[in-house]
Amino acid sequence: MQRLLAGNWKMNGLHAALAEIRALTRAFVKEHPPASLLICPPATLIAEAVAAAGGSPIAIGGQDCHALPSGAYTGNISAEMLRDAGATFVIVGHSERRHYHGETNLAVAAKAKAARRAGLTAILCVGENETDRDAGRALAVVTTQLKSSIPEDSTAADLVVAYEPVWAIGTGRNATSAQIGEMHEAVREALAARFGEAGRKIRILYGGSVKPENAKEILETPNVDGALIGGASLKASDFLAIVRACPVR
Ligand code: 13P
Repeated sequence: MQRLLAGNWKMNGLHAALAEIRALTRAFVKEHPPASLLICPPATLIAEAVAAAGGSPIAIGGQDCHALPSGAYTGNISAEMLRDAGATFVIVGHSERRHYHGETNLAVAAKAKAARRAGLTAILCVGENETDRDAGRALAVVTTQLKSSIPEDSTAADLVVAYEPVWAIGTGRNATSAQIGEMHEAVREALAARFGEAGRKIRILYGGSVKPENAKEILETPNVDGALIGGASLKASDFLAIVRACPVR
């Protein structure tokens, strides 16, 4: 399967940031990217980002969605609304949502289900915190998150899993290739146990301080089918450098 390189802009980006998407779009007029590409800007920029990326291989996605299609939920955005704005992906269960908004595995599963209902591919995030890793519980924590937050009827077409160790997010600290490889293998086996052969086709992304300098090594690790990139996706030049470092499959 083709790798996926996804940028998560988090709560960054005013109107002027669309220039970064235009720069990426220009770069891929002549150049064929070695992976599928996705940018998840803040919801306020989705529709314009879709227009800016028009005619390029860059897909646009949301960073979160509500579980229901509509209703009295002030401030929330549904998967259908993201789709309506032109998004084709949505990140669900990011550790920042789990931490700052108290999202449980159950809530994340409902959001992943909503994504499927709306015709979006869900990028479902899992990852242990530093205490869990130090206590030797990383594999157990991540497998439990997977078990309880992936909806029953998910398929490779509507689900991507992102492993993001919380201690490596925005810290400049990287998981080693060995740590990434061990976790991605465990995630792969869990997906295969749940979905059979189809589970081997679900993309597993790594996220946490991915940058141009470490992207190649991370992406060459077995079972790493792409990356979810925070800080280094904000500038077109950094994101492009990561795309160019990506080995072709
Ligand atoms: P950084 O790449 O800034 O560490 O963020 C990773 C992340 O959380 C992407 O979703």
